[in-house]
Amino acid sequence: MADPRQVDADMLSFWNGHGGHTWVERQSHTDLTLAPMTDALLAFAAPRPGEKVLDVGCGCGATTLEFARAVGPGGAVEAIDISAPMLAEGKRRAQAAGIANVAWRQADAATAGLGAYGLLTSAFGLMFFGDPVAAFANLRRAAGPGARMAFVCWRALAENPWMEVPMNAVARHLPPRPKAVPNAPGMFAFADPHYVGQVLAAAGWAPPRLDRLDLDLDIAAGRGLDEAVAQSTKIGAVNSWLRNQPAEVFSAATASLRQALAAHQDGAHVRLPAAMWLVASTPA
Ligand SMILES: C[S@@+](CC[C@H](N)C(=O)[O-])C[C@H]1O[C@@H](n2cnc3c(N)ncnc32)[C@H](O)[C@@H]1O
Repeated sequence: MADPRQVDADMLSFWNGHGGHTWVERQSHTDLTLAPMTDALLAFAAPRPGEKVLDVGCGCGATTLEFARAVGPGGAVEAIDISAPMLAEGKRRAQAAGIANVAWRQADAATAGLGAYGLLTSAFGLMFFGDPVAAFANLRRAAGPGARMAFVCWRALAENPWMEVPMNAVARHLPPRPKAVPNAPGMFAFADPHYVGQVLAAAGWAPPRLDRLDLDLDIAAGRGLDEAVAQSTKIGAVNSWLRNQPAEVFSAATASLRQALAAHQDGAHVRLPAAMWLVASTPA
């Protein structure tokens, strides 16, 4: 089991370094790919006008801006993230869109002193904690009277061909990799619904409702096959595998990836199935 403090230190470094900067660079593409998820999370969380919302791991603010619009000028969103470059991008986008009811704050959701909110939400921002029980207990303390939590996380890799197809395509060019540790902090940490329930229960949350969210994600974002390949090699597991590989390995792996994605091309789109959990809970 990894040392939680080391996990948190690695996350801080990743999201403020290569990971955060790449997310900023790729944000408009990522937002288009994930737009159906944003719509689904909004419908599931059902923010109310005038409400106070906490968006955890807000990144560049894709969902934050939608929650801010939904709660209106009488409501407010506090958007927290450990990543300075992603927060700066979120703030820039809010200013450009004339959205003034968001407070952007660089903080670790696991330990930060937080206010009291009616709705705690997150799009893929809650799976990276070194000590998830402590983190969700901290969020529990931020639940105001009658508060609810609603977030989205990934189901297992095997249910996510949008990620698995690229990974399999490049894997054959690389040495065998260690087997993924179940529930380990990272993208697929909350794939197992029983584990999600255990973490929430230990942190003072009621047994969660988990709804399946199955979507076809356009990893080309309507921008064609080249952009689908660029997106797959720049973000996520494929990027971390390929980043330090020799040029010849990188180009052979990218050629295989391109071939694998071409099989799913439909004009300017490359749509592949994605599987998520929409998770809702309230203080126990
Ligand atoms: C996969 S990104 C999702 C970003 C954004 N919600 C979106 O959907 O575009 C995960 C985000 O969680 C943030 N994050 C990771 N650990 C965190 C922590 N302990 N506290 C706050 N934010 C964290 C990262 O910096 C990153 O912005």
